[in-house]
Amino acid sequence: MTSTPKASQVVTALHELSHEMALREKITTHTALVGVIGIGYVGLPLAVEKAKVGYRVVGFDRNAIRVAQVNQGSNYIRDVDDDELAKMVANERLTATTDFAGLANCDIIIICVPTPLTQNKDPDISYIRNVGGEIARRLRPGQLICLESTTYPGTTEEVLLPMFAQTGLKVGHDYFLAYSPERVDPGNKRYTTKNTNKVVGGVTATCLSVATSFYKQTILEVLALSSPKVAEMTKVFENTFRAVNIALVNEMALLCDRMGINIWEVIDAAATKPFGMMRFDPGPGVGGHCIPLDPFYLNWKARQYDFHTRFIELAGEINNSMPYFVRDKVARALNLKGLPLKGSRILMLGIAYKKDIPDWRESPALKVLELLAQAEAAVDYHDPFVPSFQDAHGRTRHSIPLTEKTLGQSDCVLITTDHSQTDWDFVVRHAPLVIDTRNATRAVRQPRDNVILL
Ligand SMILES: NC(=O)c1ccc[n+]([C@@H]2O[C@H](COP(=O)([O-])OP(=O)(O)OC[C@H]3O[C@@H](n4cnc5c(N)ncnc54)[C@H](O)[C@@H]3O)[C@@H](O)[C@H]2O)c1
Repeated sequence: MTSTPKASQVVTALHELSHEMALREKITTHTALVGVIGIGYVGLPLAVEKAKVGYRVVGFDRNAIRVAQVNQGSNYIRDVDDDELAKMVANERLTATTDFAGLANCDIIIICVPTPLTQNKDPDISYIRNVGGEIARRLRPGQLICLESTTYPGTTEEVLLPMFAQTGLKVGHDYFLAYSPERVDPGNKRYTTKNTNKVVGGVTATCLSVATSFYKQTILEVLALSSPKVAEMTKVFENTFRAVNIALVNEMALLCDRMGINIWEVIDAAATKPFGMMRFDPGPGVGGHCIPLDPFYLNWKARQYDFHTRFIELAGEINNSMPYFVRDKVARALNLKGLPLKGSRILMLGIAYKKDIPDWRESPALKVLELLAQAEAAVDYHDPFVPSFQDAHGRTRHSIPLTEKTLGQSDCVLITTDHSQTDWDFVVRHAPLVIDTRNATRAVRQPRDNVILL
């Protein structure tokens, strides 16, 4: 015999349904107030994308400088269009603040804070915990919370969910919680936030459906997955895939160097195969906020399951060895000219971790520079995207101009980043010796006896 629900149960169920319905309505009519916590490389483009379709967006950040810049409509992320940002700010669709009190008013909160490693290469999820606490203090019925930071499988349900559960609110009924990794590729003109497929995992079926409906408003293809864990694993797998394949091609480069084979010719040839092959290029190592860090999130989690991720360890070992190889390659080349590394003038071209972006976080060029400086070489650098940066000793270094004189005065020009705007013909023409770790000079046709490729 089925018992009839009590009146109070019916009222509760109707309330829960009304929270969900009200949120869905705000999502589809673009009247929801969206909060983005962390307005950096990921958060700012995302905030602009949401504002462009009509949502009112508030960026929350601890960095008062970034907050002030946004409020002035001043752009600091290259992937964001200056005019679009200025327009969104002028028409008050986008504002920013350091005051987290406003989280209470947001219908949707997206978390885009950093997920670095500790000194011991363990995940540092203190940023996620911190903002989780800020949200929990203000959580109210009818809110959707989405984590977008890259992290190990389990974070949403093992870290955020328990914090929110303490409020007494019920996930999937009162509020909604999901994980959807950001996949942005800084500097990529073809794939942007809008046309890069999005994957979403919800804590409950309703969380998934609400979150998916939200992302579909601004992203062309949204794939609903069975859980946050699957979405978290998808993201770390993608970045591990890159790290491992870059390591493989780097190992091939080391072997080719020993065998006197041109690795670039090998890669170009292999890339002509129309199936079963995907091109990855070797280089001075890996950098940025993702590839050097994210695989270690998975590695750490795997250890809790008594599982050793050997590919990740090996890839890390090979990729981390590349700056040492580059230093040795410079030393060998100088040696053939009768010059020791000590006292030689080396001009490094590129500090950014990859071309056409200003991001130098974890850049392998930093390590190369440090190793050369340790060997007492006199190192300068030029990078049109990085006018200055702090080296390993906290010393501020400034980019020097790329001129006939600076090239000619160096004993060796070391190409560490292949920015598109650099005139490589000019570099090869005026430098006495060029070590090219990116094959940036591939199009230089003039006599190039002074060029040594990785
Ligand atoms: N940069 C990328 O290419 C990329 C791509 C995909 C995913 N991700 C992931 O996205 C996340 C964010 O990366 P990012 O590159 O945008 O980092 P970022 O450093 O550019 O931006 C993070 C922002 O969060 C702010 N912040 C830090 N702690 C905060 C706090 N407690 N409260 C509010 N704001 C806080 C910082 O001031 C900064 O502005 C990371 O998990 C990263 O792995 C990055």
